[in-house]
Amino acid sequence: PERGGHKSLTDVMEKALSIYRDCLEGASGEIARRYLIKRDLPKEWWSHFEIGWAPPAWDYLWRALSKAGIPAKAVIECGLVVEGSRGLYDRFRGRVIFPVRDVTGRLVGFGGRSLSGEGAKYINTPEGPLFHKGSCLYLLNLAKDAIRERGRAILVEGYMDAIRLHMAGFREAVASLGTALTEEQGKLLKRFTNSCYVCYDADSAGREASIRGMYILQALGLQVNIVSLPPDRDPDEFLQEKGSKAFEDLLKKSLPLPLYHIKIREDLLNDLNLRKKVVEELIEGLSRIDLPDLAPFIPQIAAKLGMPRHALEDELL
Ligand code: GTP
Ligand code: MN
Ligand code: MN
Ligand code: MN
Ligand code: MN
Repeated sequence: PERGGHKSLTDVMEKALSIYRDCLEGASGEIARRYLIKRDLPKEWWSHFEIGWAPPAWDYLWRALSKAGIPAKAVIECGLVVEGSRGLYDRFRGRVIFPVRDVTGRLVGFGGRSLSGEGAKYINTPEGPLFHKGSCLYLLNLAKDAIRERGRAILVEGYMDAIRLHMAGFREAVASLGTALTEEQGKLLKRFTNSCYVCYDADSAGREASIRGMYILQALGLQVNIVSLPPDRDPDEFLQEKGSKAFEDLLKKSLPLPLYHIKIREDLLNDLNLRKKVVEELIEGLSRIDLPDLAPFIPQIAAKLGMPRHALEDELL
């Protein structure tokens, strides 16, 4: 509790979460319950992931919080309500709610998934005094012990990807909440492990984002392996279709950063018009990796780039 007996912002967030969780159980939650079950996220898991439901009404949460004596100012600071010309209304309406906790378990934000197909598929708590998207990793509070014990983290894009991995026993999974991994998120991971398996969606957005993210992690001293999913799949879909054994096989077949980068540029390397530019891009990336980490791959890389080994080594120094 902070000044004057007012609740702290975190208390307000916890109160909101408990309201959202009640709503998932209540009459308005019927549509959300059916959605979750249809997605193979059964009831038994809802409390583990603290999943909630924001009803479609304009100000359901705001009225409930206000009745509980919480002042508008605090609710606005939490990003839970928005000031409109005709008063305050809830930010999350008609959305399944995923709470985002920081590494210590403090509730800092929410993600909300639309069921209607209207508006953005996901919205998050806006940046504010509590929530900084770039410094959160979804489920890290649940994953950190497993990451330490297993000596690796698995990094995915989405809420449902991280949830599905945990359900399948990969409790070392965390999500970056979208695609653009930040250095802060990398540093968080580095506190628990030296090894990260990046498993972003197998679409062009995911592929390009994983390259940037990879180099950020690598620069922080993590061993980075990239997992390749079948075209247009994400980890959630893959696990549902193929199961955890198949996913473990994908992890085993993952490629270390340098080889992955070359592999996804292979077609361009074979295009005489693009070759020079692509080689430059690859060299630029590879030169950021410490030479000892790169050494085992030098012969393979030299062959792919069609360069003599010593010439490649010169370029990389
Ligand atoms: P599902 O359809 O629920 O499985 O979503 P997904 O996680 O597969 O969605 P997608 O691959 O498109 O996006 C991955 C992650 O990016 C999501 O889990 C969100 O964290 C984030 N994201 C996706 N769409 C949006 C959006 O419209 N706005 C914002 N802010 N984030 C989004
Ligand atoms: Mn802050
Ligand atoms: Mn995607
Ligand atoms: Mn996805
Ligand atoms: Mn998905």
